[in-house]
Amino acid sequence: MWKLIRSNWPLVIILAIIGMVSLREIFNALNNSGTANTPVMAVDSSWVAPSLYTDNELKGKEREKVIYGEELIMHTSLYFGPKGSVATLTNGMNCQNCHLQAGKKNWGNNYSLVYANYPKFRDRSGSMESIYKRVSDCFERSLNGTAPDSNSKEYQAIAAYIQWVGKDVQKGQKPVGSGIEKIPFLNRAADPAKGQVVYTAQCQSCHAANGEGQLAFDGKSYDYPPLWGEHSYNDGAGLFRLSNFAGYIKNNMPFNLASHDLPKLTNEEAWDLAAFVNSRPRPKKDLSKDWPDISKKPFDHPFGPYVDGFTEAEHKYGPYQPIIAKKEELAKKN
Ligand code: HEC
Ligand code: HEC
Repeated sequence: MWKLIRSNWPLVIILAIIGMVSLREIFNALNNSGTANTPVMAVDSSWVAPSLYTDNELKGKEREKVIYGEELIMHTSLYFGPKGSVATLTNGMNCQNCHLQAGKKNWGNNYSLVYANYPKFRDRSGSMESIYKRVSDCFERSLNGTAPDSNSKEYQAIAAYIQWVGKDVQKGQKPVGSGIEKIPFLNRAADPAKGQVVYTAQCQSCHAANGEGQLAFDGKSYDYPPLWGEHSYNDGAGLFRLSNFAGYIKNNMPFNLASHDLPKLTNEEAWDLAAFVNSRPRPKKDLSKDWPDISKKPFDHPFGPYVDGFTEAEHKYGPYQPIIAKKEELAKKN
């Protein structure tokens, strides 16, 4: 044996090298298949949205539907805006303006939770809501318009897309980065005057001096969407609540410069900006049917009547701690 090795040592070295290389290859292959097959969903891990490039199971008509749905979410105004090709139903904004990367971005108000959790009971309407009802709400409030017929090709495509985006999330799971982050409260009321100063410095370059945004060259959509004024979301929209607005911009604005890990705004700036933008004029919606049980109104819902004795201004701008404390006290009594 030793004789054999000694006389053939160059061959032995070559065989050893081949052996090491293939071992490494086997290791790599194992590792890769590991990442491809390991489910990314864990309750406390960040969420990875499905991708059309890697999803080979989505085929035929269903795939076409999902692709069209994504297109409608990204470029809503081209189809439903004031110059829309399908119908003129909305204010010219896109779903994606507030659900970034077509609702796939962590901390960008994504759609990860929707499919697993609807239908669900919502206090705003006091009823069980389907995905359709929830999507229609954003058409009527955030897009200040009317929802298309729920049987239409477009509506079905939007629903199919949202279903596909959330397909890997289980009911009861809440992946990190879903929806809008709840950022810490201030110990004072949010201040529109302070917010205006920040607006001029950090937002105006894109969203314009009067919050009107900037239309694209063809006038069919916005390069920079409006933040207030007649073409913006109405006072029944989710972003009209300061907590939603502040959480959204803290992680995402200024656009492409800020992120959850590297925000550009402090909490104070985010709250004051929310106060400033939401103190400007905007379209109004009849909200008389919202929150039929008024004790369920969120702390920052800016329209009375309330059960807690605080004013509309206090609910709108804070400070919120005393309102929440009172809410808990009342809940204990009942
Ligand atoms: C002006 C901003 C804005 C626009 C535009 C907008 N939304 Fe929303 N949307 C919101 C906010 C804010 C919420 C509530 C988030 C929260 O309460 O955590 C929301 C919630 C939702 C939800 C429920 C999410 C959940 O996890 O329960 C769905 C579904 C939805 N939007 C779909 C759409 C669709 C589809 C469009 C376009 C037709 C659209 N939105 C346009 C701001 C917007
Ligand atoms: C570099 C340009 C830019 C700057 C600066 C910027 N934004 Fe935006 N903003 C955008 C774009 C673009 C979108 C829409 C994103 C999309 O559709 O993908 C957007 C969307 C928004 C939205 C949701 C849609 C709407 O119109 O209601 C809000 C709210 C918002 N920005 C607030 C702010 C605030 C507050 C600041 C200042 C801290 C700011 N932005 C700075 C470009 C910008």
